[in-house]
Parts: sequence; structure tokens; C-alpha cells
Amino acid sequence: LSILVVNGPNLNMLGIREPGVYGVATLAEIQMRLTELGKQVDAELHFFQSNHEGALLDEIHAAYGKHDGILINPGALTHTSYALRDGLAAVGLPFVEVHLSNIHKREAFRHVSVTAAVALGQISGFGPLSYELGLQALCRHIQDNRS
Ligand code: DQA
Repeated sequence: LSILVVNGPNLNMLGIREPGVYGVATLAEIQMRLTELGKQVDAELHFFQSNHEGALLDEIHAAYGKHDGILINPGALTHTSYALRDGLAAVGLPFVEVHLSNIHKREAFRHVSVTAAVALGQISGFGPLSYELGLQALCRHIQDNRS
């Protein structure tokens, strides 16, 4: 499988950014763990992070016909971006939404995800493990729905 792993705004700051909320692991460390897990589930991972909504959209559009699925942490765009939601729906690739923190026990504005409604599912609150669980769920779903 070929999986695109997308991280949105401010996730390049992991390790420095509010460690009490997001933990101390850097994005590079999370991506390294995912690469290892990818080998076990027969998935080749391609990583992309941007702080720019349009750049995220361009990358997601380019995934069409190129990757089998998307693992995404949209950051704060989760709560606001109808454009990101429509872009994900437009390419129609199966995707799983992940969050380090449990967005449902934080500020009210984080309780709504506009992207989750078009996702296969959402995993929230397990720190870096959210990404690993999300990758496993995504790959299992794609494999089970082949053939
Ligand atoms: C986040 C949660 C969002 O509310 C926040 O804006 C982020 C990170 C998470 O991984 O917990 O940037 O997506």
C-alpha cells in the first residue's frame, strides 16, 4: 500500500509546542515510528506537513491516483476548514483523522470536526499512538476492501 501521511498547521512545532497537551515527541520521531509500523503492515509512507491550507489541498489533490489512502492530522483546520473537508471528499480516498489530544475534552471550539464526517473514522487522545492506531485501521480497511 502507498499511504500519504499529512500534518497540518503547527504540527512542525511538536516537541516544543505545549508539551503538556501534545507531549514531547517531535514530528520527525512520530514519522520514524510510523515508518517502522508501515513495514509491518506492508505500507510505504509518504510524509507531508504544511502550515498552509492551499498547500495541503494541493498535496491531497495530487494523492488522487497515486496513493491508496490518507492518514491526516489537520490541526486546527479540523475545526474550521470546509475547503479541506471538500478536498478530501473530492479525491475520495479512504482517510483516517487523528489527533494527539482528546479534542472532545478540550475547549468547545475543538469539539467539532468538519473533516471527520467524510473520514472513515477518527482517533483522538492517544498522543503519538493515535497515528499508529490510525495507520493500522486505515491499512486494514483498505486491505479488507480489496479483492
Ligand atoms: C490537534 C488538536 C487541534 O485542536 C489543534 O488545533 C492541533 C492539534 C491534535 O493533534 O490534538 O493543532 O489536531
